[in-house]
Amino acid sequence: MGRLNNKVALITGGASGLGKESARRMIEEGARVVITDINAELGEATAEEIGGDVLFLDHDVTHEAGWQAVIEVVLTRHGRLDALVNGAGIGTMGDIEETSYADWQRVQAVNSDGVFLGCKYGVATIKQTSREEGSGGSIINISSVAGLIGGHNLAAYNASKGAVRLLTKSVALHCARKGYKIRCNSVHPTFIDTPMVQAMYQNAPDPDKMKAKLERQIPLGHLGAPDDIAWAVVYLASEESKFMTGTEFVVDGGITAM
Ligand SMILES: NC(=O)c1ccc[n+]([C@@H]2O[C@H](COP(=O)([O-])OP(=O)(O)OC[C@H]3O[C@@H](n4cnc5c(N)ncnc54)[C@H](O)[C@@H]3O)[C@@H](O)[C@H]2O)c1
Repeated sequence: MGRLNNKVALITGGASGLGKESARRMIEEGARVVITDINAELGEATAEEIGGDVLFLDHDVTHEAGWQAVIEVVLTRHGRLDALVNGAGIGTMGDIEETSYADWQRVQAVNSDGVFLGCKYGVATIKQTSREEGSGGSIINISSVAGLIGGHNLAAYNASKGAVRLLTKSVALHCARKGYKIRCNSVHPTFIDTPMVQAMYQNAPDPDKMKAKLERQIPLGHLGAPDDIAWAVVYLASEESKFMTGTEFVVDGGITAM
């Protein structure tokens, strides 16, 4: 018996990294999964690689009409939605002086507006279709440790991930107040060895030195693996976390303990 048997999940940013690994683990645990991404070629390849009941849809999380179209496909194919993972995101570095307004807006659009749209359409869909039995549905927003602690060179990214943290709490409280049986939690990873972080160290003049520098910041002494986050996502989507809502699920090798 899988931990997610009979559940339908929608994962944005599912072509790569944390979204991809979450899709893989959710399928293993019995879910039916729809992944979306702007990288259609990679998304199709990922769906093929994962196998099982997984469908890829080309989708930009910043486009409202795209959300409506994706939800329509999910409902036509599966008849309901139980878990939404807002995983699409972009990384950026820059302090307040060097960050252009255009860069700021680009980051907020994907990391913050995209999660807002996801929560809005996720709540509207899950409240209508989630099962009467069990704990109902779950929205899982991938924030970051950068949504909890600041970095001198993360002005736009810090702001976007902090927004996700508090939007999550507002959604959680609204759903609880309305009696919707929809839980909403944020996940806060530190450096996980995905293409986003690989780009940070592989593009450095000395990649090994850069990777070691990242690892030194983590008390456990190494980067996280994508399934460190995927298992948190499985837990939050499952009945095991039925009393958790509005929380910050921190998976960071100890970084925020310092
Ligand atoms: N990897 C880490 O160390 C780390 C740490 C903390 C938080 N996060 C967050 O986790 C999430 C996933 O990151 P990842 O490490 O898997 O990165 P990744 O680059 O491997 O995957 C992100 C995916 O999002 C997609 N995407 C980007 N813009 C999009 C848009 N507008 N619409 C739809 N899809 C879009 C990309 O094409 C990509 O496939 C992001 O929100 C990121 O900020 C990652």
